[in-house]
Amino acid sequence: MHEQIIGKSQAIRHVRELIDRVSKTGLNVVITGESGVGKELVAQHLYLNSPRNGKPFIKVNCAALPDTLLESELFGYVPGAFTGANRKKRGKFEVADGGVLFLDEIGDMSLPLQSKLLHVLESEEFCPLQNLKNRPHPFRSPPGLPRR
Ligand SMILES: Nc1ncnc2c1ncn2[C@@H]1O[C@H](COP(=O)(O)OP(=O)(O)O)[C@@H](O)[C@H]1O
Ligand SMILES: [Mg+2]
Repeated sequence: MHEQIIGKSQAIRHVRELIDRVSKTGLNVVITGESGVGKELVAQHLYLNSPRNGKPFIKVNCAALPDTLLESELFGYVPGAFTGANRKKRGKFEVADGGVLFLDEIGDMSLPLQSKLLHVLESEEFCPLQNLKNRPHPFRSPPGLPRR
């Protein structure tokens, strides 16, 4: 069972009302506030009150991974997308499909990656990383030093 949201103040009552209202809508939600104020707790309650309850709740800490790793974590990849990508990996967007993807510390995500995320939110589509530069490329090695 999840923790209850404790508090009787006007502010916390407003938060509870918002959770009730928003959780039914399927909208994407940005939760702001200082560390420890209960953002993750609010995200869990949004999920628990929504029709998505029972589907995956996937949390990704955007501050914990370097940018390129975070991108492959979110988008997934196909074999050969980059050196070391031997097999297909499903991204969190796919794993969380039908459920909730909680992007913790989203403000720490690089701006280029934030713009890719925006594109996913707007288009409701994403594409796993692939190697678009995989075609053979002519390469002429520089002329060697004259042999003696
Ligand atoms: N209103 C609240 N009622 C009950 N527990 C709370 C409340 N606000 C915060 N907490 C608890 O405080 C801790 C930090 O909350 P968390 O949701 O992780 O904060 P944030 O994500 O904003 O840093 C957690 O253990 C959480 O359950
Ligand atoms: Mg937190």
